[in-house]
Amino acid sequence: MIDVQLQKLITDNINDNLANIDAKDDVYQALSYAINNGGKRIRPLLLLSLLNDLHIDINKGLNVACAIEMIHTYSLIHDDLPAMDDDDYRRGKLTVHKKFNEAIAILAGDALLTEAFKVSIDPLLTDKQNIKIIKELTHLSGINGMIYGQELDLRYEGQDLNEEQIIDIHNYKTGKMISLPLICAAIIADREELIPNLRDVGSKLGLAFQIQDDVFDISGSLIQTGKTQGSDLKNNKMTYAILKGEEEAIKTYQELFNDIMMKIKSLNLKDNHLLSLVDFISNRTF
Ligand code: IPE
Ligand code: IPE
Ligand code: MG
Ligand code: MG
Ligand code: MG
Repeated sequence: MIDVQLQKLITDNINDNLANIDAKDDVYQALSYAINNGGKRIRPLLLLSLLNDLHIDINKGLNVACAIEMIHTYSLIHDDLPAMDDDDYRRGKLTVHKKFNEAIAILAGDALLTEAFKVSIDPLLTDKQNIKIIKELTHLSGINGMIYGQELDLRYEGQDLNEEQIIDIHNYKTGKMISLPLICAAIIADREELIPNLRDVGSKLGLAFQIQDDVFDISGSLIQTGKTQGSDLKNNKMTYAILKGEEEAIKTYQELFNDIMMKIKSLNLKDNHLLSLVDFISNRTF
């Protein structure tokens, strides 16, 4: 089960942060539209669930969690643009460039990204923790992380890829942004010895998550996923689900989820919030 109260806390805190923006004009309307379109908030929930399991006050991680969701939302606004995946629906509503226009969508993404760094700086954390977190945010969402994955994803359109190449793209475009909240939680909890294992959990979870997404792209519907089905085929993207077939892809992600659960159990955390979130993700249909 997803923690709806925690989801609401995240959305409220993002909106509180956005309320501090002075220029509440078109770009502001567009980024508020994107943020309040009912995303699952998986990445911030990963951070707060792990903090809960480490018995650390979640208020210490709330702003960082929200900053990660803002970066994620910017990446989706840009991912949907005509120059990228050219999609019309996201989270069941028109994509930002369809609702507003392309220039506003580009700027709304830019604004969410830059504001996210301001939001991530939190006086409840030490200066050292704040600096480490900014480095991770930059590294994992930027040219060494998600952006590089998006570059590979576009470069390989129309090409026959092997399993290894697909896993590599997934690891960058999705795995890095899923590892990010887990790593930030370890920094906030002063438990950095957990980071190597959390990186492993994050990249496996990112891979499983993206394979699920690619299966939904084949067999899901707009009502189920909030996105138009068939985007990958339309763009000639070779995904794991297209390469191996749906059945094999589902088997692969189920095996990955089993591995992830075992790895999380081996961390001997004090509670099961992270496990139950991963269980929710493993059964997701959108
Ligand atoms: C969509 O991410 C992009 C992928 C990495 C597959 P989510 O499925 O987390 O999207 P929202 O935020 O819930 O809309
Ligand atoms: C991941 O891939 C997107 C990002 C890293 C932003 P997709 O392009 O498959 O995501 P959806 O299906 O549009 O949400
Ligand atoms: Mg894409
Ligand atoms: Mg896309
Ligand atoms: Mg997709």
